[in-house]
Amino acid sequence: MSGFGNHFSTEAVAGALPQGRNSPQHVPYGLYAEQLSGTAFTAPRTENRRSWLYRLRPAASHPPYSRYDRPSLLRSGPFHEVPPTPNRLRWDPLPIPRTPTDFVDGMVSYCGAGDPAMASGLGIHLYAVNLSMKRRAFCNADGELLIVPQEGALCLYTELGRFTVSPQQIAIIPRGLRFRVELIDGDARGYICENYGALFRLPDLGPIGANGLANARDFQTPVAWFEDDDAPFEIVQKFRGTLWKTTQHHSPFDIVAWHGNLAPVRYDMRHFNTMNTVSYDHPDPSIFTVLTSPTDTPGTANCDFVIFPPRWMVAEDSFRPPWFHRNVMSEFMGLIHGAYDAKEGGFAPGGASLHNCMSGHGPDRPSYERAIHADLSPVRTDNGMAFMFESRFAFSPTRFAMETPLCQLDYDDCWAGFQKAQVPRQPDNGDKQA
Ligand SMILES: [Fe+2]
Repeated sequence: MSGFGNHFSTEAVAGALPQGRNSPQHVPYGLYAEQLSGTAFTAPRTENRRSWLYRLRPAASHPPYSRYDRPSLLRSGPFHEVPPTPNRLRWDPLPIPRTPTDFVDGMVSYCGAGDPAMASGLGIHLYAVNLSMKRRAFCNADGELLIVPQEGALCLYTELGRFTVSPQQIAIIPRGLRFRVELIDGDARGYICENYGALFRLPDLGPIGANGLANARDFQTPVAWFEDDDAPFEIVQKFRGTLWKTTQHHSPFDIVAWHGNLAPVRYDMRHFNTMNTVSYDHPDPSIFTVLTSPTDTPGTANCDFVIFPPRWMVAEDSFRPPWFHRNVMSEFMGLIHGAYDAKEGGFAPGGASLHNCMSGHGPDRPSYERAIHADLSPVRTDNGMAFMFESRFAFSPTRFAMETPLCQLDYDDCWAGFQKAQVPRQPDNGDKQA
């Protein structure tokens, strides 16, 4: 099955899915019917997302939660640990931990904006893990999770099915859905956008037309899968920024059938239909938007997920990399592999950078020199996969992000040493030269 926001029906046991009713008096096999909503009941039909689940036991069958007592670097909005900074920030790759660390304990928050209690904003985390989650699941009541693996494939076991996600693919786990993460080939590292706001969706295409950018058919949704397992299982839940835990006496992955349009998805970024100029100038990076979480202000996103995939560069008489810019929107960037075309070094796969609202940035000097001397024949940039979480909200860093030795103290040097442009002397131009 594939699509995004489509309506799916799937059953792991023939005849388990009720027909004609969502909650019949008698569900087949005595299964329990349960609705999982991702939007308000009264959201417009085009926005409304929910699924009906048919399971061995209700999700409600668990003891009370108590506070999660293991150390965690996962943070949540409002982000007030350290003062916000106008400085440009860049980090070396997050190292894989030396001690056994699974996905729950391996999430490290770098920055964020807004507040999950106000359903607005986002948290940005990296994960570095070396241990599969065994007999425990994670559940985030604060928002959906957009997971961007950078190193190592993951197998995501979710209540609605299981699937793998590898570097160059992304996955979205809906808010509130329980899941656990198994490592497939050893250590794993990647990025997470925790979206407190409106659900991610495909952007409108406007004059591009009916085709282009990410195609709906390339978003894949798992089929129903369940385990009939009555051994203890820990559930760790994030709620209003705090982690809680409970232990129930059965696996949470007991949904035998489900239908609806709220489900995990996987997308392969290599399927992105990249648009670019075929005449001149560097287009705004919004042309590379894969998914957007809109706000009530048209065209002004809570978060855009933007990628920079391999593509042909053909612009004539143009500076082809990003020019210098200061934007209203704030930009958090990551790199899956290869190199980004506006930086010659220092931005490594697994690293990150943050250019907040109105922070001046752009190519470093070597990239600038290369670009202004480049032969402008058509060329294919085949050197990596970078991405950006872009938001209308300025990001506040976490204490970890500001104090970790991964933070590059010399990042500003990227923009040092640019020669002054030489313009003819003009009378009354404020020239202070002798
Ligand atoms: Fe930028």
